Amino acid sequence: MNRRQFCVSAAAAGVAATAGAAASESALQTDGAAAASKPVDGAPNLFTPLKLRGVTLRNRIAMSPMCQYSSEDGFANEWHVAHHAARAMGGVGLLLAEATGVTPQGRITPNCLGIWKDEHIPALRKVTEFVSAHGGVPGIQLAHAGVKASRHRPFHPTPNAFVPLEEGGWMPVGPTAKRYGQDGPVPHELTAEEIRAVTAAFAAAATRSLAAGFRVVELHFAHGYLGHSFLSPLMNERKDEYGGSFDSRVRFLLESVRAVRAVLPEETPLLVRLSCTDWVEGGWTLDDSVEVSRRLAKEGVDLIDCSSGGASRQAQIPVGPSYQAPLAERIRREAGIATGAVGLITDPAQADAIIAEGKADLVLLGRELLRDPHWPHRAWTALKPASPPPIAREYAWALPETRR
Ligand SMILES: Cc1cc2nc3c(=O)[nH]c(=O)nc-3n(C[C@H](O)[C@H](O)[C@H](O)COP(=O)(O)O)c2cc1C
Repeated sequence: MNRRQFCVSAAAAGVAATAGAAASESALQTDGAAAASKPVDGAPNLFTPLKLRGVTLRNRIAMSPMCQYSSEDGFANEWHVAHHAARAMGGVGLLLAEATGVTPQGRITPNCLGIWKDEHIPALRKVTEFVSAHGGVPGIQLAHAGVKASRHRPFHPTPNAFVPLEEGGWMPVGPTAKRYGQDGPVPHELTAEEIRAVTAAFAAAATRSLAAGFRVVELHFAHGYLGHSFLSPLMNERKDEYGGSFDSRVRFLLESVRAVRAVLPEETPLLVRLSCTDWVEGGWTLDDSVEVSRRLAKEGVDLIDCSSGGASRQAQIPVGPSYQAPLAERIRREAGIATGAVGLITDPAQADAIIAEGKADLVLLGRELLRDPHWPHRAWTALKPASPPPIAREYAWALPETRR
C-alpha cells in the first residue's frame, strides 16, 4: 500500500492522518523491574496519576489500541509482548491492546488478535505480566469488525481486499445487509438472536480478559465496525428494536455494556471507544454521543475514548493536531464522564495542555508511540527539563541526566 492508500484506509479506520485535570503535585515513577511506582513532586499535568475505580494509572498517557495484524488463529506471540513491553518500559501509563476479536468472525483480518477461546489466555498473560511488572496498566480493546471483517492485512500484496471464503475468509455481518467496501459479498443481516449472541461473546471475552491479567477493558464502538454500525443511521437501516430511533440504535451498545459490566469486578474500569461524529450530514452526531455518554455513565462506564469517523467514505474530517480533542471536551463537560482525547497528539506541550485545560482526563497516542516508545520520557524532559524523568532503574543508573 502506498502512502496515499494508507491515509485513505487509515482515515476510514478513524486514524485520519496523524477532572478539571487539576495538576496534582505528584506523578508516578517507575522504579525498575519491581515496578515500584512512586509520586514525583511537582510533576507536569501529563504525569499526574489518574484513578479509575480501583486502578491508578501512573500518568495520563495511554497507548491507543493499534492492530498489529501479526496473529495466527487469534493468538498473541512474541511480537505482541515486545510491542507492549517497549512502551511500558518507555513510561506509558495505560497500554491498550489492539482490537481483539470476541469471535473469529469479529476479526478485521485473519491476522488479528482474538480472545474467543480459553486457549488464547496464556499467551496474552505474557503481555500483561510484563506490562504490570514495569509500572504500566494492561488494558484490552474488545471488538467485532462487523461488515468490515474478512479483509487482507495492510501489508498483504492486496491490502484491505476481501479474503474470499474459499481462501479462509468468512461472511461479514452487520445490522443491515449493506456493503461498506466495493468488493466482497453483501453482509449477512444479524437476527435479534444473533445480536444477543454477540453481546454474550463480549461478556465471555471480558471474563477471559480478566483471566489473562488485563486490568482495564475497552469496548470498540467506533470506526464503522460492528458496534458503531448499530449506532450510525448511515449503516443501520433496521426496523426492529435494534434500529430506527435513537433508543433502538443504542440498544446493542447499552446491552453490551450491561453484559460486560456484570462480569467485571467493581474495581475494574470499563471504557468505551466511540466515533463521536460521523462527520456526515444525516449521520451519528456529537449531540448523539453526549446523550449516549450520559446513559453509559449511569451503566457504569468510566471513560469515553473519543475518536470519530469510519461510517462513511464521504466524511469530511478536519484533520489536524488535536482535531478530536473538542469531542472529548464537550462530552466531558456535558455528560459528566471522564474522557480520553486521541488523534494527532504528538507534542508534549500539546498533550499537557489537553490535561491542564480540562479537555480530557487521558491522552491516547497511536503513531507517535510507534515512532518513539520512549515518548513519555521525552515528554517529561521537554516539560520539566530541570528534573530527571521517571525511568526504569535498569536504564537510569547508566544515564547521568536521569539521576535525582
Ligand atoms: C497501525 C494502526 C492500527 C490501529 N488499530 C486500531 C485498533 O485496533 N482499534 C482502534 O480503535 N483504533 C485503531 N487505530 C487508530 C488509533 O488507535 C488512533 O485512534 C489513531 O491512530 C489516531 O491517533 P494517532 O494520530 O495518535 O495515531 C489504529 C491506528 C494505527 C496507526
